[in-house]
Amino acid sequence: MRLEGKRALITGSGRGIGRAIAVRLAREGADVAINDLNVQGDARETLAEVQTAGRRGVLVQADIGKAEQARQLVEEAIRQLGGLDILVNNAGVERRAAFVDVKEADYDLVLDVNLKGTFFVTQAFVRHLRAEKRPGRVINISSVHEEMPFPGFSTYCLSKGGMQLLTRDLAVELGPNGITVNAIAPGAIATEINRALLDDRPRVERLLKQIPLGRMGKPEDVAGLAAFLASDDADYITGSTYYVDGGLAWNYRE
Ligand code: BGC
Repeated sequence: MRLEGKRALITGSGRGIGRAIAVRLAREGADVAINDLNVQGDARETLAEVQTAGRRGVLVQADIGKAEQARQLVEEAIRQLGGLDILVNNAGVERRAAFVDVKEADYDLVLDVNLKGTFFVTQAFVRHLRAEKRPGRVINISSVHEEMPFPGFSTYCLSKGGMQLLTRDLAVELGPNGITVNAIAPGAIATEINRALLDDRPRVERLLKQIPLGRMGKPEDVAGLAAFLASDDADYITGSTYYVDGGLAWNYRE
């Protein structure tokens, strides 16, 4: 087990990619803090799977789009797990709208959760590591759209483009503290964020033709890489984004 004795916080881990990462890190030996907007529903299933893996799981409710709640989330996870070594910034939302129709409320929602939330959760995590003079791992769940245009999703692209440069910037600033910062860029993964797509069979068929490996990804496809980046094997890796997209990025046409 590669993560024996480690403690990890995974934002937005009630379902989807976040859940798969929480469960995978637990199977690798980590105790995990599971966060969601509401921890009464799906998050309980994540908790049950973590416990089945034989690890400790705690549920912490917070809307990370609000800086105060982002800080409280990290403090609560630290209090319940006795500290944190690994942070996975997974929580994310997307809203589809033509650029000319984007509403301020949707702009704020996407930027607040995807970028501001990542920023302030990470800040609280890094303050904790610095206070304890310990190294740590930050893994940002970005998207192939940190690099590639996604027409109809300008707010999402803006947030993931920001995440890309935040990853690089913090890798440089925090490297001297022994804190690595990397990103994972999933392509089309079959989760709730893609509900509208999954319910539109012709759109799915068009998308599958663009994925060289011929299928949409599973949350578990992303979780394996997260476990690797959290492990000692990734000691010398920082400031990079790793794609998990079945080859989509090199063959993408909207
Ligand atoms: C988005 C999905 C999209 C995929 C590939 C992801 O980041 O969340 O909606 O299907 O990228 O374009």
